[in-house]
Parts: sequence; C-alpha cells; structure tokens
Amino acid sequence: MSAKMKTAWFCQECGAQSPKWIGKCPSCGKWNTYAEEIVQQSGSSTTPVRFTAGAGKPVTVDSIALSEERRKETCDRELNRVLGGGMVPGSVILLGGEPGIGKSTLLLQLALKTPGIRTLYISGEESEQQIKMRAERTGGPVSECLILTETNTDPILYHCRETAPDLIIIDSIQTLQSDKIESVPGSVGQIRQCTAELQQFVKSRNIPLFLIGHITKDGQIAGPKVLEHMVDVVLLFEGDRNYGFRLLRSMKNRFGSTSELGIYEMTASGLAEVPNPSALLLSHHDEAYSGTAVAVTLEGNRPLLIEVQALVSSAVYGTPQRAATGYDLRRLNMLLAVLEKRCGFRLGSKDVFLNITGGIRLEDPATDLAVIAAILSSSEDIAIAPGTCFAGETGLTGEIRPVPRIEERIAEAARIGFTSMCISKYNAKGIRQIKGMKTIPVARVEELVRQLFG
Ligand code: TYD
Ligand code: MG
Repeated sequence: MSAKMKTAWFCQECGAQSPKWIGKCPSCGKWNTYAEEIVQQSGSSTTPVRFTAGAGKPVTVDSIALSEERRKETCDRELNRVLGGGMVPGSVILLGGEPGIGKSTLLLQLALKTPGIRTLYISGEESEQQIKMRAERTGGPVSECLILTETNTDPILYHCRETAPDLIIIDSIQTLQSDKIESVPGSVGQIRQCTAELQQFVKSRNIPLFLIGHITKDGQIAGPKVLEHMVDVVLLFEGDRNYGFRLLRSMKNRFGSTSELGIYEMTASGLAEVPNPSALLLSHHDEAYSGTAVAVTLEGNRPLLIEVQALVSSAVYGTPQRAATGYDLRRLNMLLAVLEKRCGFRLGSKDVFLNITGGIRLEDPATDLAVIAAILSSSEDIAIAPGTCFAGETGLTGEIRPVPRIEERIAEAARIGFTSMCISKYNAKGIRQIKGMKTIPVARVEELVRQLFG
C-alpha cells in the first residue's frame, strides 16, 4: 500500500466516517453498516486550494455529436432483449441470482457461443476442470474463450491487459480481492474496490464486463447497495431450482427498459431459450379440476398464461394455515379477507394453499382475479369452465380494477386457444373484439361469483 493511501470506515447507510470499524453507527443507529474505503490525502489543509482544468470541459448539449451506440449482439436472444439489444461497449453488467440457479452456465454459454468475440472468463469459484466439464455439457465452443482462475485483481488486470479480450466475465465479484485495502473478500469494501478497478479498465478499453453476484437470503445482491449504483445494468436470474424454468429480469438498465424478461429452460445440455413460453406453463389435463384457474399476466413486455392452483380445506388444527408458492402471502391474505367481507365466504376457518405452476413468481396484480377464481372454485368444489382465463386486479372494496395492456393479453389468450376471458368492466370499453374469444366484464367480486357458479 502506498504511503499516500489511507483507509477509513464509512457507514454504507448514512456516510458517517470512523477511523475504525464499529458495529452500530452512532449517527444513524444501523447495525453492521461500516465498510472500509480508501481515502486519499493530498497535501495538508493549510495549502491554498488551487483548481486545475482536468480533461473535460463543459459543452452545450447541441454540440455533442450523437454516436450510435455500437451494441454487440450476443448469441442469446433472450439476453439481447433484456439488455435492450445487446451489450453496450464499456458497460458493466451485474448478474445476480441464488446459488445453483445457472448464472455461471448462462455466461459461459454466452462466452462460448457468441461468434466473433474473444472472452476472458475469470473464475474465483471453480477450477479449470469444473469449467471444462460445464463447457462440455453445453456443447463445443464456437468462439475463443480464455479461462483464468484467479481472485486477486492485480494479476487479473495484468491478464486483461495482456490478452486484450472483447468481453470480460467475473465469476463472482464476491470472491475477488484487491491488495489496496485490507479487508476479506466478499466484504463491502472489497466488492466496491474490485468493481471500481475493473470498471476503470473496461471503460478505458471500451469493452463490456459481466459481474456475477451472489444473493443474500432475502433476495438482495450481497454487497453494498452502492454496487448497484456503480454498474450500468443489474440483471436478476431467478426461478425455482426444482423446476426447469429460469427468468432473467432487469432491475436497472442505463441503456434500455427494465420491463423486458428473458425465459430459459435448464436442460441436460445447458440453458435453452424459451421463445414461446405461454403454452409450456399450462398443465394439460383432459378433464377440468376444481381449484385451478388460468391467469393472463404480463411478464416483462410479454403476456404469459400461467396456471394458479388453490386448495381450500377445513383446518385440521386450531389455526388455519395459509401457504403460497410463487405468490405474495400478504396479498393472498388480503384477497381472502375481501372474499370473506364482500361475498360472505367463511374462509376464516379454512386452510388455504396456493400454488403457481412452473416455479414462477407472480408479481403482476392482474393475477388477483385468477387467484380468487381458483380459491372459490376449490372452496365450492366446482371446476371452472374449460377455455376460461382471467386478468384483473382486486381492490380492498371488492372492485375489479382494470389492468394495463388488456388487448395484448386477450390476443395472447386467444392465440393459445382460450375462448373466454374474465376482465374488469373498466377494461371492457372499446376494446378490439377477437373472433372466437368472448370477454366477460365484471365490476365486483360478487359478480365474479355469479359468473362462475351461476
Ligand atoms: P450453475 O451455472 O453452476 O449455477 P450458479 O453459477 O448460479 O451457481 O448451474 C448449476 C446447476 O445447473 C446445477 O445444479 C446443474 C445444472 N445444470 C444443468 O442442469 N444442465 C447443464 O447443462 C448445466 C451446465 C448445469
Ligand atoms: Mg456459479
């Protein structure tokens, strides 16, 4: 460490400074928020302040020439779409996800299969042998990919300079370590420092950089929130490990929208794109069962039909159980309360289980209507008419609220072969009619009950 380099501890929440680590921040009261950072000291405070011009100078917006971003398309169409049309040179992309979800596979495939690029894949997690085995599974390489197993940023940057790749992948940022600060790999200070060093390199060379990041138990990317601020794009790779489907979402994108979604399937030979997911996520039974309803959600920009299953049964134990897989439990409880209060269903003494098929997590409020329909269908033990699907949000007063992009949802449902769709009355005005698809407008939960069970 150079003589000029000094470090101090900073609260990651409020920015308070301390010469040593402390557990509880005296300024904001948060625990475990202190991280070591480099503070550069130049001269004493008594030297008069002198300003230097620096490299840049202020320009007017008019005089800035608009350079067409030369995005580099990858072999992966889902990823291209989520990124907003490919990788932007000099950008830093953080890919977060739970262990075992397929982050390393996704990026190794990208490195091996994108034609015409040379990649330097730096792994601090796996041996060359392990990476080779994974590469074998996903099929032979199309383009050149160099593997480096290293965790120290000094040799990493040396090899980056030596090999001059077109793309750098770091697996994972939590394993890296910089000699410039003295904290353990994975600590907030190290993550920030290593990211900053790599970012500086790729910005100067104008090449894209992927960072794989771990996720903590509560679903946050492990490390400081500032990491998410530092990078240009934050992607999340998610899905239920027991199911094949994986969703790639963008949480932040400086070069595109965050509403796009990529869908993959984990197969025995790597990740496969799922270009037409709707039909895959519906289970195909010949007879209609009570307790299932199909929701037309919007995942990213694509309408998606997903099956919702509910099981309502008398509580065996004193307190009824409520469990939801792939759905927010608080929202389920709210919907149950609405049903109880507005329609007089005595669900208070019932166990209610809710399951979204395919291991997908639903966040679109438009699934409310399907959830309610599934619960009612199970509770009454009457199957919903085949060919029916649902899209509508439920309010606390029991009203069915309109949802965005209803026409696209209806069109997708019709394409998959559905013949009727329950929607909010307020969505029904002036929508384009599609042949063979009947829309059933409902204004309130009570009306849905009448529609379903006559
Ligand atoms: P991996 O990419 O190692 O996950 P991460 O880097 O996010 O921790 O993926 C691990 C899982 O994927 C592992 O359980 C095995 C499975 N897998 C397949 O099913 N098929 C394959 O072709 C590969 C390479 C992995
Ligand atoms: Mg991995």
